[in-house]
Amino acid sequence: MNAIRTPARHFAPLAIGAPEPYRALPVRLERMIHFVPPHNEKIQAKLGDMISKVDVILGNLEDAIPAGDKEAARQGFIKMAREHDYGQTGLWTRINCLNSPWGLDDILEVVPAAGEKLDVIMLPKVEGPWDIHYLDQLLAQLEAKHKITKPILIHAILETAEGVKNVEAIAAASPRMHGMSLGPADLAASRGMKTTRVGGGHPDYAVLADPGADENAVRAAYQQDLWHYTIGKMVDACLAYGLKPFYGPFGDFGDLAACESQFRNAFLQGCLGAWSLHPTQIDIAKRVFSPDEKEAAFAKRILEAMPDGTGAVMIDGKMQDDATWKQAKVIVDLAKLVASKDPDRAAAYGL
Ligand code: GLV
Ligand code: MG
Repeated sequence: MNAIRTPARHFAPLAIGAPEPYRALPVRLERMIHFVPPHNEKIQAKLGDMISKVDVILGNLEDAIPAGDKEAARQGFIKMAREHDYGQTGLWTRINCLNSPWGLDDILEVVPAAGEKLDVIMLPKVEGPWDIHYLDQLLAQLEAKHKITKPILIHAILETAEGVKNVEAIAAASPRMHGMSLGPADLAASRGMKTTRVGGGHPDYAVLADPGADENAVRAAYQQDLWHYTIGKMVDACLAYGLKPFYGPFGDFGDLAACESQFRNAFLQGCLGAWSLHPTQIDIAKRVFSPDEKEAAFAKRILEAMPDGTGAVMIDGKMQDDATWKQAKVIVDLAKLVASKDPDRAAAYGL
């Protein structure tokens, strides 16, 4: 299916008076998308402090908010948007899915009341480009009607089997697309996986080593990453269309090591951040999604050794060429972005 408009029309606003879509995504550091339940008054009281600690704060209206609190969460989000200045911290909301009883009112109430401050709408359970087209058109109409001056971006959660099948068409669906997050919990359910977890590995998903000479010896089993295939597919679709890929939630708040390992695998595969559902996961995400200091120092040496990015040089016995120069540039550019927000890390990177 060809889901994109002609190149000439691709960047035309979808409603008269709506802002022009971005040609390139705004440069923002988004190492963690920190989820908060906006109807919770204790959380509202701590927001000022939280905003300065995270890269993105997201008011969650969807799963984990009880049906009876959906409207309070929506109003709570509008309140949090209006009462705080977010500076360099992104303000996002996760609305209810389009076929739920709440999704339409989430959009119709939040955008007029908080659209000017809202950076990104996270859309759950995206099945195909038609979901993006619907939200894209509706947002353009609302932006025009309420004189919103910058386009609200869409971030899709990849969490259904059909969504994974259509991931490239979803990425291509609109210049309003910001990126995608893997939603391992809903995806596991949609695929009929035999697990009961929110992300992470499973001890039984393993490869057994061959038997040795001793038939009775215990054979090693090597646990595999259940999400490797989907993250790879999502990263390719996102980067092919200039979007940002993210790992989603990690539900075992007590297992910080496993959370860190899941986040790091996603980072190494190309993701730029993950969700934090608990304050302890904020620091994990900061550590993981900021380039390692030694890696950043080595990447800087590569760039310095090949000023115009061509040819081949040896550094510490390792061959460098155009392709490693480009890898090094990804790391140094990210380190610079981190340094611009995080003075401690700027010193450690020597930038
Ligand atoms: C997130 O929404 C998930 O389902 O994992
Ligand atoms: Mg989900």
